[in-house]
Amino acid sequence: MKILVTGGSGYIGSHTVIELINAGHEAVVIDNLSNSSEKSLERVAKIVGKEIPFYKVDIRDREGLEKVFEKEKIEACIHFAGLKAVGESCVKPWEYYENNISGTLVLVDVMRKHGVKNIIFSSSATVYGDPDTVPVTEKSPKKPCTNPYGTTKSMLETILTDIQTADPEWNVVLLRYFNPIGAHESGLIGENPNGIPNNLMPYITQVAVGKREKLGIFGNDYDTVDGTGVRDYIHVVDLAIGHVKAVERFSLNKGTEIFNLGTGKGTSVLELVHAFEDATGVKIPYEIKDRRAGDIATNYADASLAAKELGWTAKYDIKRACQDSWRWQKNNPNGFEE
Ligand code: NAD
Ligand code: UFG
Repeated sequence: MKILVTGGSGYIGSHTVIELINAGHEAVVIDNLSNSSEKSLERVAKIVGKEIPFYKVDIRDREGLEKVFEKEKIEACIHFAGLKAVGESCVKPWEYYENNISGTLVLVDVMRKHGVKNIIFSSSATVYGDPDTVPVTEKSPKKPCTNPYGTTKSMLETILTDIQTADPEWNVVLLRYFNPIGAHESGLIGENPNGIPNNLMPYITQVAVGKREKLGIFGNDYDTVDGTGVRDYIHVVDLAIGHVKAVERFSLNKGTEIFNLGTGKGTSVLELVHAFEDATGVKIPYEIKDRRAGDIATNYADASLAAKELGWTAKYDIKRACQDSWRWQKNNPNGFEE
């Protein structure tokens, strides 16, 4: 299939483009480069051995999108483009609603005008809020989100579901990601956050490479194995392959489907720090800090539905993800800047 990948020069998008090409699909990327570098696609081209068509287009730019749809015979869209920083979304809610919600509405409208009614949407485990029980299944109730970013994901799930209900020609796959970490084994692409990383793994790798002095661990008094927060860390390549499997759903015309993409295994912050140290031989100094506002103790996936329906399970473990994250960071201490 020829697939439009919005946000395709970003972290998860660039890894997904590789797996789409590996599986024999064609990928066309659009991105406004607000949180990524075009260089990631140059690296992707090196890995897959061919150029990926790229358009610097904002998903809110109807005319720009129209031109892409007129030029390329798009059959489906994997929609990654969006703003994703939890803390920033609390400071700039308007920007988050406008970018993520308005952008998706424009994209979907242009898609349907061109008869393209297949979409995979990047949702998040954040829609489960603070779950009553773990592991969470797709049937676990959605809870109010603690930040505008999460609310955009939850609202967009509803919007896409309603659009599919009104027009059954649509195929909508909502993928709820748990915590993506790791990088492509080549060390050529990986996560490249702007400024101080919000997320745990890029913070660890920046400490390891000497860019930051020590890791702050947000709380060690949660009701967990060692008091630190527990999450389901999934290798980004596994996540990318999950998208390729989801593409195969379009031909089944199942309406709207929801899948958790996680490993099914919870790992605490301290366990991840120690796994990183064991996998790389690099010591990570840390200090215990106060809990971070909005954090929950534990969340991990029941990923059995994806196993049953998509034939997908995560195959890489934490050790491998640590090694791959470290290779990327070590070889590219300043991300895509040479
Ligand atoms: P990322 O920031 O690396 O990628 C998102 C890309 O979208 C960036 O390249 C950015 O430049 C682009 N973009 C943003 N707004 C745009 C717009 N209006 N028009 C065109 N391009 C635009 O983030 P990522 O980690 O690769 O995340 C991809 C998707 O997955 C996002 O929707 C994110 O919310 C979702 N997600 C990520 C995580 C995570 O922990 N990384 C977890 C759950 C869900
Ligand atoms: N943590 C630290 N120190 C840090 C960063 C994080 O101790 O410097 C801890 C957090 O307190 C938490 C765990 O590491 O216990 C993971 O935190 P992340 O920020 O890496 O991930 P979150 O689970 O908080 O959130 C991430 C994304 C959200 C997404 C969610 C579920 O940032 O956008 O996963 O997919 F919604």
